Amino acid sequence: MDGCLSAAGNCGGRQNPAYRLPYPLRNAWLQVSLPATSTHDAAASPRVPRSYVVTEATGGQSPPMVVATAQLHPNFPGAGSHIANASFMVHPDHEGKGYGRLLAHHVLNAAFADGYRGMVFNAVVESNAGAIHLWETLGFDIMTTIPDAFDHPSLGPVGLHIMYKVLAA
Ligand SMILES: CC(C)(COP(=O)(O)OP(=O)(O)OC[C@H]1O[C@@H](n2cnc3c(N)ncnc32)[C@H](O)[C@@H]1OP(=O)(O)O)[C@@H](O)C(=O)NCCC(=O)NCCS
Repeated sequence: MDGCLSAAGNCGGRQNPAYRLPYPLRNAWLQVSLPATSTHDAAASPRVPRSYVVTEATGGQSPPMVVATAQLHPNFPGAGSHIANASFMVHPDHEGKGYGRLLAHHVLNAAFADGYRGMVFNAVVESNAGAIHLWETLGFDIMTTIPDAFDHPSLGPVGLHIMYKVLAA
């Protein structure tokens, strides 16, 4: 696994300042996991699936704990592969600590570096206020909502948003 700079929230390569992480990380590391490369060299490996984890130091001899993950890959293969799709998951005990925003900034940077021209989320549950707030503050728009497309375990049928952001320099 290749380590990346934690405070900058990036791994080098082509950067877009608009996606720079707005705060420093303390006691945590953002890492790129296989099959990603450490440099995001788009010419060498364009638009390959990439995975990321955030680990937190647990102290002493204990190994660091994975507290959040993200994935980045083309939304569709072939002619649709210039649009990225990404997914994010923060450990419930570690939500609200900024890891979601950290990963989102990092993944947007990585997608930009890989030459993607947009990013789409295909299924954002309408009741997921935290995620929708995060995506909207990063410039994603709700393109449409598929009514009652998600059978929520406590709320019953709720809509699924398709959210999209252009990745421009
Ligand atoms: C959505 C998720 C990735 C956010 O990660 P996180 O680490 O908790 O988020 P952060 O701590 O970075 O906070 C991001 C923003 O969301 C806001 N937020 C969190 N919960 C919120 C809520 N219920 N309502 C409104 N805003 C909320 C935070 O205040 C913060 O806003 P700010 O930066 O403008 O102050 C995380 O909650 C998660 O993994 N959820 C389960 C899986 C999931 O829903 N994935 C996304 C699917 S589209």
